[in-house]
Amino acid sequence: MSKASDKDRIDKLKVLINNYRYHYHVLNESIMSEEAADSLKHELTQLESKYPELVTPDSPTQRIAGGILPGFEQVGHSRRMLSLNDVFSRDEMMTWLNRLTKLIPETKLSFFTDIKMDGLACSLIYIDGILARGISRGNGFVGEDITANIRTIESIPLNLRQTKQYGLFNVGQTEIRGEIVMHKQDFERLNKQRQKANLPLFANPRNTAAGTIRQLDSGLVASRPLHFRAYDLLRQDIAEVPTNEFAYKALSSLGFSANQMAKVFSDLEQVMQFANYWEHKRHQLPFNTDGLVIKINDRQVFDTLGVIGKAPRAAVAFKYAAEQATTKIKDIFISIGRTGNATPVAVLEPVIIAGSRVQMATLHNEGEVCRKDIRINDSVIVHKAGDIIPEVVQSLPQLRNGQEIIFKMPKQCPECDTALVKQKIAEAIWRCPNIACPSRTWKQIQHFVSKEAIDIEGLGEKNIITLLDASLIADAADIYSLTVEQLQKLDRFGEVSAKKLIKAIASKKQPSLARFVYGLGIRHIGTQTALEIAKHLNNLEDICIASVNELASIEGIGQIGAEAVVEYFSETANTVLLDKFKRVGVWPANDIPLSGKLANINIAVTGTLDQMTRDQAAETIRKLGGSFQLTIAKDTTYLVIGHNPGRSKITKASDLKTNIIDETAFLKLLTT
Ligand code: IVH
Repeated sequence: MSKASDKDRIDKLKVLINNYRYHYHVLNESIMSEEAADSLKHELTQLESKYPELVTPDSPTQRIAGGILPGFEQVGHSRRMLSLNDVFSRDEMMTWLNRLTKLIPETKLSFFTDIKMDGLACSLIYIDGILARGISRGNGFVGEDITANIRTIESIPLNLRQTKQYGLFNVGQTEIRGEIVMHKQDFERLNKQRQKANLPLFANPRNTAAGTIRQLDSGLVASRPLHFRAYDLLRQDIAEVPTNEFAYKALSSLGFSANQMAKVFSDLEQVMQFANYWEHKRHQLPFNTDGLVIKINDRQVFDTLGVIGKAPRAAVAFKYAAEQATTKIKDIFISIGRTGNATPVAVLEPVIIAGSRVQMATLHNEGEVCRKDIRINDSVIVHKAGDIIPEVVQSLPQLRNGQEIIFKMPKQCPECDTALVKQKIAEAIWRCPNIACPSRTWKQIQHFVSKEAIDIEGLGEKNIITLLDASLIADAADIYSLTVEQLQKLDRFGEVSAKKLIKAIASKKQPSLARFVYGLGIRHIGTQTALEIAKHLNNLEDICIASVNELASIEGIGQIGAEAVVEYFSETANTVLLDKFKRVGVWPANDIPLSGKLANINIAVTGTLDQMTRDQAAETIRKLGGSFQLTIAKDTTYLVIGHNPGRSKITKASDLKTNIIDETAFLKLLTT
């Protein structure tokens, strides 16, 4: 091979590898497997070692870290890195807008709105399209040269992508600003590893990201998963970037990951709706966020409005309601769950957290109460986020006044007086072993009729309690013997609603095996594991007599799940219940087809899909005769990659040479 042809090969490899990186990090698409990309990188390394003079700083091989930085040099920012003033309500946002309209009454304003990421700001300088420098925020005027460290961040392109539309940004100096974040999942994984290694735990993803970037050893930085999300594009001539909307479009084309959910609105009511939406959905984002950034879209207008103190007039941070608040514990009671777990629950002085009134919070178990030293009458910090059950985070012993009462776990179930038994001695988790405990019964019936199980419409919590109180039912099987006449005698039902419910019940006499097994409420058996059991054992009779070994050998069940299944079917009360189901004509049918277009095809999913939930994906695959897998195994045919995929699944799939496909390819598989 001549040097000229090798050079040509080097150039092409660089383009292809960079293109792979762009598709993977920016478009969430995979144009080839990780393994294939690795082998291309290997070839490039080989060629570059043959011709060291052809190694350029933007080569994908130059990401390889390991250099020890001598210390950080101080560098001045081309333009000051500003902060944002906070607003906490619609009213404060209106006050901000009124101030702007007074200053520029003639101008029609539009608002560019994005998620405010909780990380650390970073500025990247590209000269003629090649990454020259990475600078931390510092004091806004001067930052630290962190080039060696940020070069290890895969989502930072070493050179800007060449496009016709944005070609001018590849000439002269282009500055990209954005946030370096650590994903929540990566943070948790890192802390788990540290816990195992007896190392002190990190406080939160932002501190960890900031601490990581300040490491002098770029090899260590490379070993910690960090991501860069761009939010600004600066040029000497401001006319080259007319709006923030334009900047984001250009950023994506140039090879950066810029938040796709960012939007332009023409009035603040729309901004408020956007804020409400993300306030509830923010937990689904891979990184932490505590609000939105709202900027005037037009950059000329933005600059004209100027700066007061450290913040531009033309932008604000809208902060969501806090997710933690302090209150007092008035009492602690025990709640008996569906499977008998006895959970201490704190009765609180009502408090508004994240927009809702909270008056009860879980204390998890006796062990947690002791560990956190939580007492009745204590002042406590309560946390509520998204759909999760509010929990008591910690007590504030500094605020005690002597009225506090130490909590003692009762010896008996408060519902049925049965002696509580310890489930796990180490964690002090207690449970009521009485299968007929009233609290367990109604929660179990509620579980049986729930959407993911038998899915009987119109049989909510209140109706179940009414039916139990009227002694019309004592367990889930009794539901099938109810009559319109019986229901009509109850206050809660009229003729129409009674008929409707009886019809709904009758339509669910032949539930699928998986739904029925899940509906039985066996400990540790969720929708997915029930599905695996149904698929492997085919009928309820076989499941009833399956051994622990047989069950544990099923993918995803595990020893604990297998033991729980065997224990369930060995309880006389449960076999009596199953007989009763049979007598009333309710018996599950295994509707998993053995043929179909996905017959013999095993599919696993990682990350979130746009078009369906994981449960819907599983059900669709199963209906087409395929198998939905929880983990990657030798027999996995496809791994479908959604948003924020798990690294371990991708690595395993690459190791096993499993086909990795994106959601579009997956949908094609289902439909064609
Ligand atoms: S725009 C004037 N957009 O928030 C600075 N900033 O408190 C406006 N931040 O230092 C920058 N997410 O590091 C912008 N989507 C986003 C952001 C964002 C996080 C940070 C940024 C800035 C700080 C301002």
